[in-house]
Amino acid sequence: MYYFIEPMTEDDIPEVQEIESQSFITPWSTSTYRREIRNQASCRYLVARSSPTPPPPSHGAALLGRRPSLFSQIAAALFPPANRSTHSCAIIGYGGLWLTVDDAHITTIAVDPQHRGFGVGELLLNGLIDAAYELRAQMLTLEVRVSNSVAQRLYVKYGFQPAGNRPHYYTDNGEDALIMWTESITTPEYQLRLSALRRQLSARMQKHACTNRSALRIS
Ligand SMILES: CC(C)(COP(=O)(O)OP(=O)(O)OC[C@H]1O[C@@H](n2cnc3c(N)ncnc32)[C@H](O)[C@@H]1OP(=O)(O)O)[C@@H](O)C(=O)NCCC(=O)NCCS
Repeated sequence: MYYFIEPMTEDDIPEVQEIESQSFITPWSTSTYRREIRNQASCRYLVARSSPTPPPPSHGAALLGRRPSLFSQIAAALFPPANRSTHSCAIIGYGGLWLTVDDAHITTIAVDPQHRGFGVGELLLNGLIDAAYELRAQMLTLEVRVSNSVAQRLYVKYGFQPAGNRPHYYTDNGEDALIMWTESITTPEYQLRLSALRRQLSARMQKHACTNRSALRIS
């Protein structure tokens, strides 16, 4: 399977809400999504899409076009130019952030349960980190349920560290939120760490795409 990301549009909202309903208890309204997507000054929302064959050039271009350094390794692996074809590409994940002064706050991130464990969450988080650069944020922050160890592991992998709790933050069950922050994402140290993680992710997704390609050839 090929996975790629691109900016969320208003047309994507119903599909995003499908994944949201399988991932979170308290849904956002359609108007909240619209407001966030339209607020380009301080918000960025992305969708991840899947495709059994290499995606059309426009999708690759969207991925590469926003920030050339962004996913060059991943994109080069996933979009062999000679093999691109057109087809529909389902949304299988999404995420977003907003800028508060000079920090970026990740507001949401989720992957379709059937596509979890293949690097899509990580791909989305990378997209959000690059969106934070684009908005000139210095650090990233987020809240996560104290019980959500899967998401916490993903965040720790990308340099987020616990920085306190918000008691009874989640209204559905009164659970506390763990507040997490990165160090500055602009330091050479963080950039190095990110490059290494992206190389790993690229290799992982390439392998996944190749495995799927072999399966397609056999069937
Ligand atoms: C959290 C979430 C986005 C991760 O997406 P994903 O595509 O399944 O994750 P990935 O395959 O990209 O994995 C990236 C990292 O996440 C962590 N992770 C993913 N699945 C895990 C699991 N089952 N157990 C422990 N850690 C796990 C690991 O650190 C993993 O890196 P590794 O494979 O090198 O160990 C996804 O589980 C999800 O949508 N959860 C429901 C919504 C949610 O909780 N969102 C976060 C709100 S704060």
